[in-house]
Amino acid sequence: MARKLLLTHIDVPGIATYDVYRQKGGYRAVEKVLNGMTPDEVVEEVKKSGLRGRGGAGFPTGMKWSFLAKPEGVARYLVCNADESEPGTFKDRYLMTKIPHALIEGMIVSSYALGAHTSYIYVRGEMMPQIRILEKAIAEAKAAGFLGKNILGKGYDLEIYVQPGGGAYICGEETALLESLEGKRGNPRIKPPFPAVSGLYGCPTVVNNVESIASTVPIINDGGEEYAKIGIERSTGTKLISVSGNIVNPGVYEIELGLPVEEFLYSDEYCGGIANGKRLKALVAGGSSVPIIPANLVSTTAKGDARLMTYESLADGGFQTGTMMGSGGFIVFDEDQCVVRNTWNFTRFYHHESCGQCSPCREGTGWMEKVLHNIESGHGSMEEIDLLWDIQSKIEGNTICPLGDAAAWPVAAAIRHFRDEFEWHVKHPQEAQTRNFGLAHYAEPRMPLV
Ligand SMILES: Cc1cc2nc3c(=O)[nH]c(=O)nc-3n(C[C@H](O)[C@H](O)[C@H](O)COP(=O)(O)O)c2cc1C
Repeated sequence: MARKLLLTHIDVPGIATYDVYRQKGGYRAVEKVLNGMTPDEVVEEVKKSGLRGRGGAGFPTGMKWSFLAKPEGVARYLVCNADESEPGTFKDRYLMTKIPHALIEGMIVSSYALGAHTSYIYVRGEMMPQIRILEKAIAEAKAAGFLGKNILGKGYDLEIYVQPGGGAYICGEETALLESLEGKRGNPRIKPPFPAVSGLYGCPTVVNNVESIASTVPIINDGGEEYAKIGIERSTGTKLISVSGNIVNPGVYEIELGLPVEEFLYSDEYCGGIANGKRLKALVAGGSSVPIIPANLVSTTAKGDARLMTYESLADGGFQTGTMMGSGGFIVFDEDQCVVRNTWNFTRFYHHESCGQCSPCREGTGWMEKVLHNIESGHGSMEEIDLLWDIQSKIEGNTICPLGDAAAWPVAAAIRHFRDEFEWHVKHPQEAQTRNFGLAHYAEPRMPLV
């Protein structure tokens, strides 16, 4: 069985409560840092662990923390990004629902390391059950003396507030999130300045993903070096992956980084293979924003090596033959799924969610949606396939925030690997208009509440 660090006690009845979490060793990391570590030592431990941000970009967490400006007399903030709106990604929601104290404990450890005395968890607005669960967990931790004034009598003060999100995917982009947290419309800011220098209310701020923050607990408990022993090269530790689409066992899994993609996909411990005995057609490995890869590139890289669940191996070959770990939303497409239809569906989402600040994204996403719909519904032309390529290439890299890239990459990859499918729609308008094509179901499959 693979080693688990975040979901070790996930099946223990009552683990969402403070009492059971504590019985299982919870809040030891807070005791350890407050009783004998300086904030800088905590940062050092996280650096040693090699932990990379689990929100999508994979930036090293310890390094990000060390960039935090520390001007005299100015507040510093930790903001947890729990907006999780990327289609196919539902791992943070799972963690917050099932084991909320893992996040609260991580928030305390991380806030201490950063010298923050007020921290926020910005939760996607639709997740009301999770907001209530977190508020209850915070109240329990406070009653037990792990939050509030003079925590454990060590002179450290911390309050954590839960903020319901603004109801838009863009609010997950860290600077849009900060705008929204300040009570404004969630429009991304131009960087620099980066949040580490001027973030929430103009103060130095770190924004981290739920899973990144929760991962600081095992890092402190076991030591950064131990954590770094799991995984391969610059992909250390464990990673939560949410699996959906045409798969036997949809759900959330904690894997050791370095697991072969093929093993993850076909072993009964994880995905259990393609549903209904069908064949694999394609994979979106890290949420709707990352390039889709065809079946022949799923198990092996273009060089012929086994493709692994690591940041490097998934990206091997660049966008020509690789993809990205992204936010860990693993969407599987069987042979009956229509790539054109799925790409149109993703693009509809990005068009709807574009904040509208940058013309290439505001106009381009809507234009791509229209062209994709034309082609998908059997009304397109060969020239429109080239036009689509052109539009996406003019969005990428030309926007304030990466939502533009996130909208362009899936379109580029779909044309690159499945051009024949686009052409089929053009050549067979009659069938394209009448056939009921598949659309992989990439919503969270079942989410029992505790
Ligand atoms: C459009 C858009 C949406 C995003 N949504 C999320 C999100 O829901 N959760 C998240 O952690 N990061 C999201 N990100 C990435 C954040 O901007 C940021 O990189 C991340 O929160 C940093 O945390 P990490 O370093 O721990 O990964 C999003 C980025 C973009 C461009």
